[in-house]
Amino acid sequence: MGFDQYHEPPEELPQETRTFARLCASLTEEAEAIGWYHQRLALEADPEARAVMADAVDEEYKHFSMNLEALFRRTPTWREIARGVLFRDGDIVEHAEAAEAAVAEGGDGFPDEAAPADDSLGIGSLREAGRS
Ligand SMILES: [Fe+2]
Repeated sequence: MGFDQYHEPPEELPQETRTFARLCASLTEEAEAIGWYHQRLALEADPEARAVMADAVDEEYKHFSMNLEALFRRTPTWREIARGVLFRDGDIVEHAEAAEAAVAEGGDGFPDEAAPADDSLGIGSLREAGRS
């Protein structure tokens, strides 16, 4: 078992930081698996093998999404920036810059003109907790 997910001595890290690092490592592994399955599917011609791999990559999408959501729940600032970027049409970079600026100004990650209907979970009050 590797311990590469730690950049600092693990025995000095709080438990919640070690858990966070494990989730980050899992997220990376799920993203790598998605990329590998996409490469395999791009080359595989056998229909049965393709069906198995297509089913497997769907599982990896689920795993990646669960890891990401778990990280968002532990990091309100990250979640707020992601809310300004994810599942939106238009220019990704512009959305990201606006979300980052809105969070830096104490907003919720959405620029005022692009704010969706109120689906806030009161995350803004947790912002400072996510910056430790
Ligand atoms: Fe997975």
